[in-house]
Amino acid sequence: MAQTPVTATITGAGGQIGYALLFRIAAGDLLGPDREVRLRLLEIPQGLRSAEGAALELQDGAFPLLRGVEVTDDAAIGFDGCDIALLVGSRPRGPGMERADLLAANAGIFGPQGAAIQEHAAPDVRVVVVGNPANTNALIARAAAPELPDDRFTALTRLDHNRAVGQLAAALDVGAGAIRDVAIWGNHSASQFPDVAHATVDGRPAMQALAERFGGAENAAGWLDDEFVPRVAKRGAEIIEVRGSSSVASAANATIDHVRDWMLGRPADAGWTSAAVVSHGEYGVPEGLVSSFPVTSDGSGYRTVEGLDVDARARARIAASVAELVGEREAVAGLL
Ligand code: NAD
Ligand code: LMR
Repeated sequence: MAQTPVTATITGAGGQIGYALLFRIAAGDLLGPDREVRLRLLEIPQGLRSAEGAALELQDGAFPLLRGVEVTDDAAIGFDGCDIALLVGSRPRGPGMERADLLAANAGIFGPQGAAIQEHAAPDVRVVVVGNPANTNALIARAAAPELPDDRFTALTRLDHNRAVGQLAAALDVGAGAIRDVAIWGNHSASQFPDVAHATVDGRPAMQALAERFGGAENAAGWLDDEFVPRVAKRGAEIIEVRGSSSVASAANATIDHVRDWMLGRPADAGWTSAAVVSHGEYGVPEGLVSSFPVTSDGSGYRTVEGLDVDARARARIAASVAELVGEREAVAGLL
């Protein structure tokens, strides 16, 4: 029997990331080649024309899996019965700004949207927040939907994860597919900790491969501290500087990776990935914070990889990023 189409709501669908997302979802990249999808494009009034234009182009794509497109500026309609909510709509940062500078501009968006999701979405809805500062916006949305379980709310750190894999692959001159078990910890910000301590390259410890590449373990550690970690953590700013505006196609790609792995599960040999999920105290991260962890997925939900050996240096880095998340939570306490 044919499966019912999945309803995916994209906020900010008239914006840059929205435009990059819509056509890939319609082409089947989100849920595979057998699953039909209905798209809901939720915008603010100023963004409606752009979203309507995208809807016209979606129709012109004659995508076999696309069962309909609706454009609205009403959250009750936008989230009605939705199975997947991609919360993209919000202001991006410009040159010289940190993502946390967007808290004042964007935080007010996510409480009402969380409440509307609780009221109108499908009971098993899954939500990913892309709009920055993503972790704390997800915390706000989650707080506004107390009747939904914690595990329905996530924020995107898959872009950071993919960036870390890309940097490692380039340094070791291998394809990205050779790399497993990189982890992003903490906030989607410059304080994040991209961690390769457990990573492997073609089945070999990445630390061993890096030591060979850089002429010893000490040099490899120096490259990680001085180049790899800051490059990954500040890649968003690098893209803004080079492109003139924040990442779009890579952000849409990571959003699709995040939702696909969450809904369909990761292939058995793919190892873990990274996502910002609601903490239940794992690795000392205070309960309730939306923090990035290494996670696995069998399709029923993201699960934090527990029991990893995390050395004192890594713990200190994770703690610094988590302290930033605590500060952001304090800054939006009035919205929680
Ligand atoms: P954009 O300005 O091109 O588009 C944003 C869209 O959101 C606009 O069309 C705007 O009308 C709409 N919008 C604003 N408020 C809204 C609301 N309340 N409801 C629905 N729509 C609303 O920006 P963009 O480049 O698409 O980036 C969107 C967000 O994603 C930014 O906050 C950016 O910083 C963030 N981002 C996050 C990541 C990540 O890895 N987490 C990566 C890249 C960008
Ligand atoms: C990114 O990481 O590219 C986005 O979060 C955009 C930004 O402001 O850095």
